[in-house]
Amino acid sequence: MKSSFPLFPDSASALSPDVDALFIVWSLISVFFTVLIAGLIIVLMARYRRKHAEEVGANEEMPVWIEILWSVVPLGIMLVMFAWGARVFFQLYRPPADAIEFTAIGKQWMWKIQHPEGQREINAMHVPVGQAIRMKIASEDVIHSFYIPAFRIKQDAVPGRYTSIWFKATKVGTYHLFCAEYCGTEHSRMIGSVIVMEQKDYEVWMAGGTPGKSMVASGADLFTSLACVTCHRASPGVVQRGPKLEGVFGSQVKLADGRTVTADDNYVRESILTPTAKVVAGFDPVMPTFQGQITEEQLTQLIAYVRSLGAGSDAAATAGVAGATGATAAGTPTAAATPAAPTAQPNAGSKPQK
Ligand code: CUA
Repeated sequence: MKSSFPLFPDSASALSPDVDALFIVWSLISVFFTVLIAGLIIVLMARYRRKHAEEVGANEEMPVWIEILWSVVPLGIMLVMFAWGARVFFQLYRPPADAIEFTAIGKQWMWKIQHPEGQREINAMHVPVGQAIRMKIASEDVIHSFYIPAFRIKQDAVPGRYTSIWFKATKVGTYHLFCAEYCGTEHSRMIGSVIVMEQKDYEVWMAGGTPGKSMVASGADLFTSLACVTCHRASPGVVQRGPKLEGVFGSQVKLADGRTVTADDNYVRESILTPTAKVVAGFDPVMPTFQGQITEEQLTQLIAYVRSLGAGSDAAATAGVAGATGATAAGTPTAAATPAAPTAQPNAGSKPQK
């Protein structure tokens, strides 16, 4: 539970025992060698001190075995630490396929959270227990760092790109959410709460939440209101000015300059803000930039929509143009990790948003 001065944070996520074990074993190894080396220095200083003013040190050869021993043993320990640390690192940064995606946007000085179904919160995040959640993290201004000590996760929010991390809460309760990167005057007040709820309580909370649209639905609206639809959707008898987006997300895209890139979050983001950076083969760089015209939140909604077209989802199927590219996209890990668009919360109620 949330305590204002914990000596050791709660352990409330699936990976926190692994991180703790790593931390404790490394600390013990460090303490052991610190004591061993400092102790040896003191003992040897006393034992081999100069006893008379004229005493000259003996020129003693060090046995080879001892040199090998003190090189090979630490090397072995270091390699074990490296392999173990790398394993935990990869676990922390590779979300499981069934993870659902939440968005966290850092801004001086608050965290804006958005649920996949569209609910928004500020400096608070309600999550169901036992559900893997992938955080997509962005910043509106400077570098922040999304930090939940009880889950043992910390990830920078970097302006101009998306970063991500995941967790699976294992204990119901309220935990600290911090910003862990000095980001200005009120950095220390950029804090919030993570509220882990039983699945059924979470559903009740969601039902009482904003009647708001899902990320995908909001993105679809923007797609029309920003007129993306005029170039990125096939209309009979009109020259297609921009590539169709059905089936694109998660696929390999051939560019005009011969490169091939994976259409992921960061690629779609760049293509909206800096359309000329990576022009798709066969198209002219005619798209205007949307830099400064849409907020970070709207960007994540647009991307959620583009992704829904690429994951072989209903949206792509009903659009009737999913085609062959849609099939390849469905096979990629990124696409597979995409949550099936959760059922929208139709009924209205009091907003959880502050
Ligand atoms: Cu945001 Cu410190």
